Amino acid sequence: MQFIDEIMGWYQQNKRDLPWRNTSDPYVIWLSEIILQQTRVEQGMPYFNRFQEKYPAVADFAGAAENDILNLWQGLGYYSRGRNMHATAQLVMENHGGLFPTRYDDLIQLKGIGEYTAAAISSFSVNEPRAVVDGNVFRLLSRYFGIKEVINSSQGKKIFTQLANEVMNKEQPGLSNQAMMEFGALVCKPKSPDCVICPLNQDCYALKQGEIGNLPVKKKG
Ligand code: ADE
Repeated sequence: MQFIDEIMGWYQQNKRDLPWRNTSDPYVIWLSEIILQQTRVEQGMPYFNRFQEKYPAVADFAGAAENDILNLWQGLGYYSRGRNMHATAQLVMENHGGLFPTRYDDLIQLKGIGEYTAAAISSFSVNEPRAVVDGNVFRLLSRYFGIKEVINSSQGKKIFTQLANEVMNKEQPGLSNQAMMEFGALVCKPKSPDCVICPLNQDCYALKQGEIGNLPVKKKG
């Protein structure tokens, strides 16, 4: 079976039931992705639930007092995320008629939304074929394919993004992306990955070469 088919098959059997996976609303996906930047899933979940409950639509978020948003944000750190979100929500009201964008090219223009987040929102909401490339994806691709390019360089990012787009399931980009991230988070973990139960362990470069601990390559900075 092909690389991505194995991962998507594993995902169907093993995925966590996370609240932001049961929606195609780009606003809700945006909420979850910004909260999960620099925050673990278990820590971010109660925040996501509180935000979604208090501000069910982007208009509610845009109309909130900034202090209320920052109060709800308390404990998450990086308060600029909360402030950027408020500005973005207001911009969506003014420039997009209150409809949260779903297209990558529109999303990437918004404050606080970079390549990863734009790809996540556009693929999860409307299946735009844009591969997400986060730490999980770098790790999985570098180990399986034996890519030794430094991941925190612009050249490295380019190479991994290209490969991620090549392996992506083009019929189901959203699922394909979720599956890659979940597999990296739960099986192909940074320390002591579960190679024994890994469905890809027959063909994994790093496992065969004893290089699990050396990949991905990161330049100290
Ligand atoms: N971390 C960042 N985005 C995520 C997502 N959509 N699912 C699980 N973990 C994540």
